[in-house]
Amino acid sequence: MDKEYAIEDRFGRRFPYLRLSVTDVCNFRCTYCLPDGHKKTREDSFLTLQEIRRLAEAFAGMGTWKIRLTGGEPTVRKDFSDIARVVSSIPGIRKVAFTTNGYKLPERAKEYYDAGLRAINVSIDSLDPRKFHEITGHNRLEEVVDGVQCALDAGFDKVKINAVLLKGLNDGELGGFLDFIANRPVSLRFIELMQTGDNLAYFRKYHIPATVIRKKLEQRGWQELEREEGAGPAVEYAHPDYQGRIGIIAPYSKDFCKTCNRLRVSAWGDLHLCLFGAGGHSLRHLMQEDGQKEELQETVMRLMQIKKSTHFLQTGDTGVRTNLASIGG
Ligand code: 5AD
Ligand code: SF4
Repeated sequence: MDKEYAIEDRFGRRFPYLRLSVTDVCNFRCTYCLPDGHKKTREDSFLTLQEIRRLAEAFAGMGTWKIRLTGGEPTVRKDFSDIARVVSSIPGIRKVAFTTNGYKLPERAKEYYDAGLRAINVSIDSLDPRKFHEITGHNRLEEVVDGVQCALDAGFDKVKINAVLLKGLNDGELGGFLDFIANRPVSLRFIELMQTGDNLAYFRKYHIPATVIRKKLEQRGWQELEREEGAGPAVEYAHPDYQGRIGIIAPYSKDFCKTCNRLRVSAWGDLHLCLFGAGGHSLRHLMQEDGQKEELQETVMRLMQIKKSTHFLQTGDTGVRTNLASIGG
């Protein structure tokens, strides 16, 4: 019988949601993330399927019911579908999601669904093929857009699109993005660009506060929705003429961290209490045998006591995060 655990911190926040990076490798070169492409930063291997299973089982025993597989680009792992299958069959895990750049999604959407994945976030920073190419280093807009449709057709419960707001690059595209969701039941998330250790000059040049887009939406009759129980930091908007919804993720806004409901584990098994916190806390040595589950759980519960109330981005402190590929955003 499992002991009764519930992951909670000193501020009364609960953490039913785990974001698990399975690789930091990415095949795209988004200008704000990996402008020069992926480079190997560590010699140690990524968590194995069995380590991932033990980790997810331990979290499930502490009330985690949602797991998102992230990267890097998680689908570059050959055993990505096996990971999804194993994680989604763990008792207590009700929803397995993943975040992807959409690479080969048209061919693979059904395989991913069949592996148990039910929610997908696809990054599309521009609907202009030339700009998409410029931002990601890949001339693949058509494939990725097609992939979104294939995900809807495959039966995914939730299809979301992530667009990082970039001054002068996509801030003039609101109309195009809105047309895109008029007849598609997807949620489009505008994410405010975050400063990382690597992208300071880029950040200064391209950052726009998310309030700019909020104002434009409100002028066009979009209405803010009530927060759903257990929702994360995105603020959601709906409009009667549109099938899709808009979400705004504004990490620099006041109170953003109050609704934090997620923990992160890196592809090497380090627990990160905050996206922008300093180093992680290695848990990998506790994923080596099934019998270590309680010890793993107790370690996580203990670490929760040092989780801070908020990040310190406002003061320009990015933690040590060089880019978000190392922890999956
Ligand atoms: N700021 C905001 N979003 C970012 N992402 C990656 N790096 C950054 C950054 N510096 C986004 C990606 C993807 C998600 C996983 O994180 O565009 O949509
Ligand atoms: Fe890859 Fe995502 Fe980073 Fe783009 S933002 S380079 S898709 S990890």
